[in-house]
Amino acid sequence: MGGVDSHGIIATGGKPNSVGDAADIGIITVSDRASAGTYEDESGPAIVQFLAAALDSQWTAHYRCIPDERQQIESTLKELCDDFGCSVVITTGGTGPAARDVTPEATEAVCERMMDGFGEQMRAISLRYTPTAILSRQVGGIRGSSLIFNLPGRPKAIRETIDEIWKAVPYCVDLLGGPYIECNHDVCPAFRPKNALRQTG
Ligand code: MTE
Repeated sequence: MGGVDSHGIIATGGKPNSVGDAADIGIITVSDRASAGTYEDESGPAIVQFLAAALDSQWTAHYRCIPDERQQIESTLKELCDDFGCSVVITTGGTGPAARDVTPEATEAVCERMMDGFGEQMRAISLRYTPTAILSRQVGGIRGSSLIFNLPGRPKAIRETIDEIWKAVPYCVDLLGGPYIECNHDVCPAFRPKNALRQTG
């Protein structure tokens, strides 16, 4: 997957002939152990792999790997939304019931409005795979013109959920006044009402 450059960019991608706009996407792995180097983060790269497969629009992924510290999660979310202009910020990890799982609290603290459908739908999807899906307190919300949502920490859980919920993300970004994110429909058939579709070809 390659490394992270000095600006914290882990990857870029997209198709040159896409009718979509360029988009900045934030990826935050929240994990005490991955951030300490106890093990290598596989969850952030799993999100990057999804973006590489699903997005036709040009994209830049800004990556951070941080411990389960509420203040640091909040400041990183603010940095990626406000300073880097990320249209979507995806967190992974820290959504469970353990004492140090505080990603949902940090997300709620920085969002002006919550998008309850994201948590509801992800838990519903995950229940098809594991009965412990209800242990994830994951949330979604809006800060300024950025959409933030939480994924569980296990790499396997990333694709189980993001493949489904991403179908609603490009139109949400449209409604927030962000870039037109065009997806590869074979990988992720994102939905937009007909009158919101940009002409292709
Ligand atoms: N969702 C999916 N799709 N797949 C999973 O394996 N694991 C669950 C749940 N959601 C899981 C899942 C478990 S065991 C927990 S504790 C919670 O997510 C929270 O995980 P996190 O603290 O790593 O975010």
